[in-house]
Amino acid sequence: MPFDTQREEQWSRRFFLGGLITFLVSVALIVLGSIRSFIPNVQFGKPLRFKAGMPQDFPDKTATYIEDQKVFIVRDGNSFLALSSVCTHLGCTVRTDASGTGFFCPCHGSRYRENGKNYAGPAPKPLAVYELSLGPGGELIVDKRTTLSNRETFRT
Ligand code: FES
Repeated sequence: MPFDTQREEQWSRRFFLGGLITFLVSVALIVLGSIRSFIPNVQFGKPLRFKAGMPQDFPDKTATYIEDQKVFIVRDGNSFLALSSVCTHLGCTVRTDASGTGFFCPCHGSRYRENGKNYAGPAPKPLAVYELSLGPGGELIVDKRTTLSNRETFRT
């Protein structure tokens, strides 16, 4: 009998130590998870406000595509427009049409005028127009955080 009691004590000590280790590991993981939650998950995406280039670098009466920003800079003399290239139907990327004066969507055929207004196809509204300004060095600054409801061009 004394032998069995000693054996039972060993098992009960092992269970206690196993439980204690499991508990301590669980607490440590919870503490580490809590500490990690204070570190923000920062996403380094493309800036929504960016330098498009010098006004004179954009050819007159054309739409210049800035692919990585999905923005067209449309120039007509000293007037500029920054248009989104995202179709307002289902989000495909529009392209300049053959005449170079407007845009078309290759997905379902929506068409837009040079100022971004939709006139054919399933697109429910015009292309977004972003705010333009001049930077300190005279370069065009596009601010994609601000969309303009009027289609007034930016004059340099
Ligand atoms: Fe452009 Fe459908 S996504 S017309």
